[in-house]
Amino acid sequence: MREIIDPWDSLIPEDYKHLVKKFGLRKFDVGDFPNPNVLMKRGFVFAGRDLTKISDCIKKRKPFYALTGIMPSAEKVHFGTKSIIDMMIYFQKQGAEIYVLVADLEAAATRGVNLKEARKRALEIHIPCYIALGLDAGKTKFYFQSESDDVRNLAFELSNKATLNEYKSIYGNAEPSRIMSSILQVADILHPQIKKKMPGVVPIGIDQDPHIRLSRDIANRARKFGFILPSSINVKFVPSLSGDLKMSKSEGNSLYLLDSDEEIKKKISKALTGGQKTAKEQKEKGGNPEKDMLFELFRQHLIIDDKELKKREEDYKKGKILDSENKEFAIKLLTRFMHDFRKKYKKAQKQVGKLFKD
Ligand code: TRP
Repeated sequence: MREIIDPWDSLIPEDYKHLVKKFGLRKFDVGDFPNPNVLMKRGFVFAGRDLTKISDCIKKRKPFYALTGIMPSAEKVHFGTKSIIDMMIYFQKQGAEIYVLVADLEAAATRGVNLKEARKRALEIHIPCYIALGLDAGKTKFYFQSESDDVRNLAFELSNKATLNEYKSIYGNAEPSRIMSSILQVADILHPQIKKKMPGVVPIGIDQDPHIRLSRDIANRARKFGFILPSSINVKFVPSLSGDLKMSKSEGNSLYLLDSDEEIKKKISKALTGGQKTAKEQKEKGGNPEKDMLFELFRQHLIIDDKELKKREEDYKKGKILDSENKEFAIKLLTRFMHDFRKKYKKAQKQVGKLFKD
């Protein structure tokens, strides 16, 4: 059976290995990259396309860019988005030119969010959140799809390099709104090269891989532009606290940046753990940190120190840590993170107000 990933309505498969094989991705090799962050070191970055081009640029200090898009249909920023931004911050620190676009046209075409509302959400919520996470706003090029003539013009020019059959085989179907949005995304991804030929990398969840495949096909065919095929780096989805992997798009028991203290407490206390049924049993047999959503959170976002993480995992396995203590600890770390984050977010909102004065 032909297998399709639908970027607009994806059920996230759990079997990443299978996907890597099926869609011709390359397994990620952390040894290729200088100064890897925790997502890279701990296996959350699992695959990519054409990544040696990017690691070469980093090692040889050659120009390259990293680019990502904000989907302003959402009114909250999911914790999974933090992983993508962490990757953008990583590339920014390694010398990449950084592009962040607001996919307001895509949101209008595929999610029915009007441009004004999309703009408001991007400026009040998404962009300040990205800056609060550590993206250097002064060194980031932000734009709205609806306001970039360069990108839209490029999309039109590139549209004659795609075929309907290709659409059907990549996306499964071909609706006009999706055709327009995906070609626009191709233009988003390739447009930095109009000014300067250089490799570019797009950190994505696997749901966006079809767009990368299309971008690479089109870049390949649009000979006269001489594009360097864009690279991608795949980050695993952050599961919901109830352990549901598909959650990135659904509500579930998911964490969001800017969640209140009460929300954090409520969500963490309901989280799926790798513990035993009773405290007595847990002390005897120990718990399984691999099946524990709090450890998942520690590994991806909350415990940066490798030794500290390892010790906690060992103690949990030995039954020295009970779920109640682990939850309390997670609440403490997360509350601390959020307090700090909220302060930075408020500051970033003011900064964004100045950056986007219109
Ligand atoms: N389609 C992306 C999403 O749903 C948004 C997007 C538009 C994007 N253009 C992009 C992402 C370019 C990465 C690169 O989230």
